[in-house]
Formats: sequence, C-alpha cells, structure tokens
Amino acid sequence: MELNEVGLNWDEFGKQDPLWAILTDPRYRGNRWDPNKFFETGRAHISGVMTELDRIGVKVQRRWALDFGCGVGRLTQALCEHFVQCSGVDIAPSMVAEAERYNRYGARCQYHVNKADNLRLFADNSFDFVFSLIVLQHLEPENAKGYIREFMRVLAPGGVLVFQVPSGALVGDATAHALPASAFRAEISLAARPVTIKANSVEHLRVRVRNASTECWPGGENPSPVPIQLGNHWLSSDGALVRLDDGRAQFRNDIHPQEEVELTLAVNAPSTPGVYLLELDMVQEGVAWFKDKGSQTCLVPLTVTEASNARQYLAPVMEMHGIPKPEVVRTVEEAGGKVIQAVEDGAAGVLTSYRYFVIKPATAVTRIVESDRVNPSARPVEISLGSHASQQVSASSDAKFSKSSSDQQIVIQTLSLHAKAINTALLRVLALEEQLKQMRG
Ligand SMILES: C[S@@+](CC[C@H](N)C(=O)[O-])C[C@H]1O[C@@H](n2cnc3c(N)ncnc32)[C@H](O)[C@@H]1O
Repeated sequence: MELNEVGLNWDEFGKQDPLWAILTDPRYRGNRWDPNKFFETGRAHISGVMTELDRIGVKVQRRWALDFGCGVGRLTQALCEHFVQCSGVDIAPSMVAEAERYNRYGARCQYHVNKADNLRLFADNSFDFVFSLIVLQHLEPENAKGYIREFMRVLAPGGVLVFQVPSGALVGDATAHALPASAFRAEISLAARPVTIKANSVEHLRVRVRNASTECWPGGENPSPVPIQLGNHWLSSDGALVRLDDGRAQFRNDIHPQEEVELTLAVNAPSTPGVYLLELDMVQEGVAWFKDKGSQTCLVPLTVTEASNARQYLAPVMEMHGIPKPEVVRTVEEAGGKVIQAVEDGAAGVLTSYRYFVIKPATAVTRIVESDRVNPSARPVEISLGSHASQQVSASSDAKFSKSSSDQQIVIQTLSLHAKAINTALLRVLALEEQLKQMRG
C-alpha cells in the first residue's frame, strides 16, 4: 500500500475507533477500551523496555525521546515518565489529535503529524532514544527501511534505538502447528439472535462455542502459535460469499472436549442494505476454517437496514509486512548503527517478530550542544573518541578539562579513550559530558 493510502487508512481508524485500531483486542472493538487500562499497557511496556536495557547494560541518556508511529500516545506518555522531553510522530492527524487530548505532560510532550517518507522535521542527532512498536509492520519494506535509516540519523551519538518489525516469516510453518483433523469440530450458537442490523455498524454478539471434538484446543498457558479463533463471514441470502474475513474472538484458556464457552464477537455490518446470512465458524489461522474440515457453522439471517450515519465503517485494512532479519541488521549497520540484540517478541501475531536494540556509536565526534556551552559565543567543542570507539578493545580512558579564562571556552586538553567495549566508551563520554556540566557550575 502506498504511504498516502496508509495515512488515509489510519486517519479513518483514528476517527472511528482509535484505541481498538492500536490494540486490536476484539473485546474492546467499537470504542470499548477503557482509556486508563489502555494507557496502563503502555506504561507496563515501556517499563519492560527500560528494564531490558538495564539488563543488557545499555545506558540511555534520559533527555530526549522520540516515539515513531505514536498513535494516541500510549507509549509516548509512558516515555514521559523516563525522559525529560518526548516527541511523538504519526502519519494520521486524527491519531495526533487524540494524542494531544490525552497528553498529561504539557509542553514536555510534543506531537507531530508527518506524512512524509522521512523524518526531516527532526534535525540530525536530536534524540537520546528512539522507539517504535507495531508501526513498521504496516509499511511496505522499502518505506520501513527508509524510516530505520532516519531513526539512525536523528539519533544522537551514543543514543539508543529500539524498534520492532516482523521478519516476514510465519511463526514457524502454520501447518506444522495444525490441530489434528479430529479437533476441527465445533458447535456454535447465538444466545440472542439479532434480526436487523444497521449498515456500517458494529454489532457485539454473545456467541456460545462448544468443543465438539475429542481434542483440546490450546489457548491457555501454552497456546497454539497459530491461533484458534471464532470468526465470521458475510454471505448473500442465496449463500454466495460477500466477505470472507470479518470479526475474530480468541480464547484465553484451553477448551477441553465437550467444554462450552461464551465469547463476544464484534461483527461489521456490510455497507449495502439488504438480506444477508451471517456465518459463524471457528478458524485455525493459516491452517483452515473448521467448515472446510467438515464442522457445522451457525447461519443467522439478518436484514441490514439503512445506516443512520452515512460514514463507511472501514474493515480493518492493516496490511502486514516483514523484513528478513539480516536485511534489517544490514540497514541499521549501513546507517551507522550497531545491533546489540534482536529478540523475538511475538508482537505481530502469526508473523515472527523481532525487537532490535541498537546503539549509535559515538564513533568520531560528539558535539556539545548549544545549551551546554559556557559562553554561547564560543565555538562548539568536539570530543573525538578516535577510531577505537567502535572496536572491542580493552584499555583505560582519561580526559582533562580546563576553562580558558579569556573566552571561557571549554578546552579539552587531552582525550585518550580506548573503549573496552562500545558501551563502556559511550558511558565514559556521558560521564565526561557530566564533568563538563559540573565545571560550568
Ligand atoms: C498499531 S498503531 C501503534 C501505535 C503506538 N505505536 C502504540 O503501540 O500504541 C500504528 C500507528 O502507526 C501510525 N503509522 C503508520 N504508518 C506511519 C508512518 N509512515 N509514519 C508515522 N506513523 C505511522 C498509525 O497512524 C498508527 O497510529
């Protein structure tokens, strides 16, 4: 999908059901997310990321952070608990408008709309931390790689980038996780059968599902990597397929043979009024609909009436893409980054997803920013780390500073820095910057 189409799509989601479009839990479709609970997921997530950075020994300066694809600011707000100044950027004006409405940090948190395929609205080397979650997976790989290069550009030397993107491969081979043939037996019924439904509306149905097979459907502590879900199709009154994929509802527990559960399924009514058949069935994603394995479905005749509101309810068009891991690593490295670790994070459903932890080595130069200078008229000072900074060699580091009384310019008299590892080098630079600040005082 072209980038402008991606933007239009997300803008529409932002107008209709922004929180659900971000965290697509079927229970909360139709503006049913409790915003407090929604934002709490962001706090828990960012706190986990900070803990992981500590665990792997990557230190992050806690000044400026960027959240790319910020949506309504779920993670940006959480980042404000850890950083002095946070920026969120998103392609969809409606998402940014919501983010501004939810902002609890005033001017410490700034949101921006950016429809471009680059981040030129931000200068080089402006952030200590860049973060992006469940965003790049919705973009064509070439666009996603372009933004990864931009992350590296806007990241300050010594800065840290954490982003997620699927590798493009299914979690294993879906069919390798297929249930045994005898497990594809379900009995599905509706507690209350609606007779009419408005065009373009979302209807939440309470659906009873009985495992009519002799096998367990794993959904609890060890769920199937290829989910087993309730779903629905729309058929015309004569049984022709109108829409194959619509709602989904997932189990949270194992469903044992003959056990019955009740699930809420959000279905999207077709946009054209008429008489339809709503067909409820179970599916093992990437493997088969239960009907195709001989199971009975539940067919509900429904009259779709004129919508009171003419707006089209978009079916969730969230394209999923991936980039093979070696290509991601190459893109990062060509842009001057170093991948510290790439771990599977399960963020992209049936696609294998990786979270990349990257540092931008302070290779040649780190520039003392304007506000750090003793005398604004003095020229900026450059601290050269030399070529050792990106090498894994062991040695000590030393630096002496003095203030020149004549022009108050901070002069670095000597700097010989041999990094034991790149992290050590960065830590040392940050400590030196700290010394500089103290000298000013
Ligand atoms: C699934 S939401 C994730 C929001 C947020 N990262 C979170 O986890 O709460 C994806 C967001 O990425 C935004 N997005 C998609 N493509 C984008 C792009 N090219 N530039 C900036 N934002 C983009 C969408 O508008 C949407 O708000």
